[in-house]
Parts: sequence; C-alpha cells; structure tokens
Amino acid sequence: MSLPLEPRVFPHQVDQLGLATDEALAALLDRYPEELFDINSYSYDDEGQFTLATGARGRADGATILAEIKAGRLWVNLRDVQTAWPELWNPVHAAFQANMRELGLKPIKAAGQLILSSPGTKVPYHFDASGVLLFHLRGRKRLFVYPPDEQHLPQIEMEQVIMRTTTEELTYRKAYDADAQVFDLEAGQALTWPLYAPHRVENLEVFNVSLSLDFQTWETRFTRGAHFAQGVMRRRWGMTPPPMAHVPMAARAALWAASLAMKKANLAENRIKDIERSFELGADKRAAA
Ligand SMILES: [Fe+2]
Repeated sequence: MSLPLEPRVFPHQVDQLGLATDEALAALLDRYPEELFDINSYSYDDEGQFTLATGARGRADGATILAEIKAGRLWVNLRDVQTAWPELWNPVHAAFQANMRELGLKPIKAAGQLILSSPGTKVPYHFDASGVLLFHLRGRKRLFVYPPDEQHLPQIEMEQVIMRTTTEELTYRKAYDADAQVFDLEAGQALTWPLYAPHRVENLEVFNVSLSLDFQTWETRFTRGAHFAQGVMRRRWGMTPPPMAHVPMAARAALWAASLAMKKANLAENRIKDIERSFELGADKRAAA
C-alpha cells in the first residue's frame, strides 16, 4: 500500500501524559545529549524567502533554554527520541503503529525528533525524504501542505535535496499558497500527508511542542534510492531520467540497489555537514551576568 494521497489527521492521547509540561521539558533539556540538538532560527523577507542561522546548545541549563525558546524565534529539534527519551517514544510509537495498520502500511524504520518552537516562528517550504506523522503535543501550529507535483516540487530539486548536494530549500512562491491545504493542529492531533508533499509551518502565537516521526516503508525507501540514483545519472552522466511516476516499483528497487553502490563510491558530495553554527543558547544571559 502507498501513503495516503491526501493529508490525514489522526487523534492521539500522547499529549495527556504530562510529558510536555515546562517542568518535564526543562529536565529533558538538562539531560538531552548535546550532539542530538539542532537549533535553527529563520528570518524571512517580504517574498517569503528565508535566511537560516544555526545555533549551538551551549552550557545554559534546561530552564534557561526553555525560557529562551518561549521568548525568541527559535526552532529546536531534539533528534533520536526513539533512543534518547523512551518514555515519550513508546506511547508515540504505539499510536503510530495503530495508524499505520489503519493505512495498510508496513513501516520498516521509524525515528522521532521532538520539536520545541517559539511563538510565531515559521518553518520554510520543504519536503521530507520519508513518510512523516506529526504528533502535536502542546500549543497550536498551522501546517500548509502542497501537492507533490512537478509544479510545486520539481524532480530535479528533489534529487538535489535527496543527494544532499545543496543546503538550498525548494523554490517557494507565495502564489503556491492558493494550492495548499491548511491545517490548524491542536494538541491531541497527528497529521500525515502524501509522500514528499512539500509543506511549511507557521506557529500561532504560542509556544509549540510536537514530535515529528519519520518513517520508511520498502516502497518509500526504494523511491528515495531511485531519486538518488537518477540524480547521479543526471548530474554525473548527463542522462535525463524519467519522471518517478513513470518508474515502476521493481525498477525503483533496482535503482535503490544502484544508489547504495553509488553512495559507497561517493558519487554525490555532501555539502551539508560543514555548515557553521552562528549563535549559542543562553549566551546573552552569561554575557550579561
Ligand atoms: Fe517537514
């Protein structure tokens, strides 16, 4: 079975476990492994184009970091919740498995990142190279989900992101918003969308806590590998690959196998790992102290 062709909202009860309170989050931030933090700050121009600054965890305590997220314009991801915070992951994963059964999907891999984000902050237009089920736990956020077609997500840009050859996000134009489906997510709701559907997020004027669960099925894994292989063929070998919709699953599986060999041979250069971090959480406070 494929991922749903339309976005879908599922109810969940994970928000009722008391895991997203200020107290629980401050304690979590105190002990969460520093290497699993991603700290982003986005600013936008009038056309909706963004600039990204990335920050470091620094040595501030959990309560200070939490206060800074609530007061600022920050987007903090705590990666690998599946290993780093099983108390949250276990109930989320149980709900996820029930939702997957309902959709007739058999996931082979799942990982979670806990997202703590400031009131009013926004995540730019992007797609995820996996299935996603977004569990909302606290606050309110508005999700814009766009059709995953050539107009909103050119295959050539998709390949670039999957090959990780660029830090660029997708081309976004405000006019696309007319084509979006819009969801105001409340605590106790989980949202999924068609595979690779571009989306962006606007927090409403409150502090937000969500767990973004990304997953692969064999079908999504083959498709991602096929995009990688076709991207290499296009860039390295000057070929013009067919639209993925015209590539049958058996051929995607073969391309996925080829992509593993290409990765081993280092045929796509990863330009993302060298991004420099430009600010540190809690730094203002220490400087003032
Ligand atoms: Fe996303």
